[in-house]
Amino acid sequence: MTQYQNIQQQLLNVPKVWLVTGVAGFIGSNLLEKLLLLNQKVIGLDNFATGHQYNLDEVKTLVDEAQWDRFTFIEGDIRDFTTCQQAVKGVDYVLHQAALGSVPRSINDPLTTNAANITGFLNMLTAAKEEQVKSFTYAASSSTYGDHPALPKVEENIGNPLSPYAVTKYVNELYAGVFAKTYGFKTIGLRYFNVFGKRQDPNGAYAAVIPKWTSAMINNEEVFINGDGETSRDFCYIDNVVQMNLLAATAKDEEKDEVYNVAVGDRTTLNDLFYAIKNALKENGMEVDTEPKYRDFRTGDVRHSQANIYKAKEKLGYIANYNIHTGLLKTMANYVKGFCNG
Ligand SMILES: NC(=O)c1ccc[n+]([C@@H]2O[C@H](COP(=O)([O-])OP(=O)(O)OC[C@H]3O[C@@H](n4cnc5c(N)ncnc54)[C@H](O)[C@@H]3O)[C@@H](O)[C@H]2O)c1
Repeated sequence: MTQYQNIQQQLLNVPKVWLVTGVAGFIGSNLLEKLLLLNQKVIGLDNFATGHQYNLDEVKTLVDEAQWDRFTFIEGDIRDFTTCQQAVKGVDYVLHQAALGSVPRSINDPLTTNAANITGFLNMLTAAKEEQVKSFTYAASSSTYGDHPALPKVEENIGNPLSPYAVTKYVNELYAGVFAKTYGFKTIGLRYFNVFGKRQDPNGAYAAVIPKWTSAMINNEEVFINGDGETSRDFCYIDNVVQMNLLAATAKDEEKDEVYNVAVGDRTTLNDLFYAIKNALKENGMEVDTEPKYRDFRTGDVRHSQANIYKAKEKLGYIANYNIHTGLLKTMANYVKGFCNG
């Protein structure tokens, strides 16, 4: 039995109370779905800044009625400390996902990103410490590696941040470290590398590359590649991320006060990604004849990114069950289904 299977069995046997912040977003709603399927009690907090009610509605259709009844939603803002205190009452495990993502958004509006990602984070961290929750797991980011040139990325070696977003995610790690030292409140930060999967938002100026391109291909719109297309990323399917959250939340004390890479350990260029998406759509019965258009590099983007996932494997028993291709097949199946259903 893998560690992940073990934990799922334990949770089924003795259900816990979870707080998922950012629950109406992409990663948060996938965490909610998994936890409800495991018969957990879940409190969800979101202000719908970038999340959607229809993500929650979709989760409702994927679990049974008794499971859905174990979910309580609070519409609220993590920038408000009282809201955080109320949300965390009686909670065992916190999965803190709420934040404003996107490097370009943070460059256009650093103040709002700072308020959600730093003040909001500190509010949640403080509220969770006061409540003495069993664990606090938070969404960190691969952007923290900044301009450090080494590949693959190892947790100890980071460079200078390249965007306001990267600063905010690094500050989260600094606060987490200080809370461990000064209050003995130990947390786990998960440095996500380009996550993709169902319910990732394809719309808006700040959409991530996979849903944005997929939606453009399906709707016969132009697909733009920023730069020469040789920029590369370690694309990580959502189920790997859900697994890491459960492993982290239930980790032993000695594995805490740490950050872990959450990725596959591969590297895919944007040029290769384009054709991988096309192929995955074809495998799902949808042929598209779009070809990419190239434009300028985007400010603040790291050129290459690839994780070393040894630490997560060794300490938490993480196994990257999906690579880019198997993840894309599942993701495209959902997009095609959604497209066919209108
Ligand atoms: N998706 C990725 O590739 C990736 C990579 C690295 C890190 N992350 C981090 O993972 C987390 C989840 O990202 P996601 O991709 O699901 O994004 P998302 O935008 O889909 O989800 C974020 C959720 O947080 C909510 N939120 C934002 N500000 C809030 C506030 N002030 N109060 C309450 N709720 C608020 C949004 O409404 C949204 O539902 C974020 O912390 C993000 O920075 C994501």
